[in-house]
Amino acid sequence: MNLVLMGLPGAGKGTQAEKIVEKHHIPHISTGDMFRAAISEGTELGLKAKAFMDKGELVPDEVTIGIVRERLGKGDCEKGFLLDGFPRTVAQAEALENILADLNKSIDYVININVDQSILTERLTGRRICKSCGATYHLLFNPPSKTGVCDRCGGELYQRADDNEETVKNRLEVNMNQAQPLLSFYKEKGYLRNIDGQQHIDKVFTDVEQLLGGLN
Ligand code: AP5
Repeated sequence: MNLVLMGLPGAGKGTQAEKIVEKHHIPHISTGDMFRAAISEGTELGLKAKAFMDKGELVPDEVTIGIVRERLGKGDCEKGFLLDGFPRTVAQAEALENILADLNKSIDYVININVDQSILTERLTGRRICKSCGATYHLLFNPPSKTGVCDRCGGELYQRADDNEETVKNRLEVNMNQAQPLLSFYKEKGYLRNIDGQQHIDKVFTDVEQLLGGLN
């Protein structure tokens, strides 16, 4: 099962990715998570990425494509993978085609989670994430049972550095500019499947599962 998860910031990619990988036992490859891990480890990649992420800009293609190429070549991707947040530009999508061709693989579906942009700011500014296990919550739409504490592992919840209103505004603008050509690219290839992301989180997952039912 080789999947790409698309959607504007806050559409619910990370939320659905958690559920998909738990059910289908494929690695979750999130470029955003990889950059955040590099930032917290203080690596050269982290330093490079931070400058762009803090402003809500995209990290340059050559940096991003390199880390995805390396990750997809690892053994745990043999039986499939879920890419979350990559590709985000047509250049990245073209590079992904080449990477997969080199690995003798191809995409099954590009799942695009559709959400009206007007509700994304609220979703992002209200998001909280577990420091220990990475589980995602929302202060209003998906609150933990105990304020500030992860239901799953008891870890402390935090707000992402780029989830402030000003950075969110730029992230949405930057991503909206890239989204349409990318969707057209995948529509033409026949991979694109749209999912309504404005339903309850569990209903969105039911729709995703229905789509995946036809795959091994
Ligand atoms: P990344 O970490 O990928 O962030 P993003 O794309 O901005 O997406 P988010 O993680 O913010 O949103 P999501 O869709 O996962 O939403 P979530 O499920 O958490 O990238 C961060 C940065 O890294 C980029 O800005 C860029 O700088 C860099 N980067 C990453 N990839 C790159 C690439 N390929 N190229 C270049 N640069 C790259 O949900 C959001 C909130 O809504 C949560 O609180 C959740 O609980 C809630 N929610 C989810 N679903 C629902 C629902 N159905 N109803 C109500 N609430 C919901």
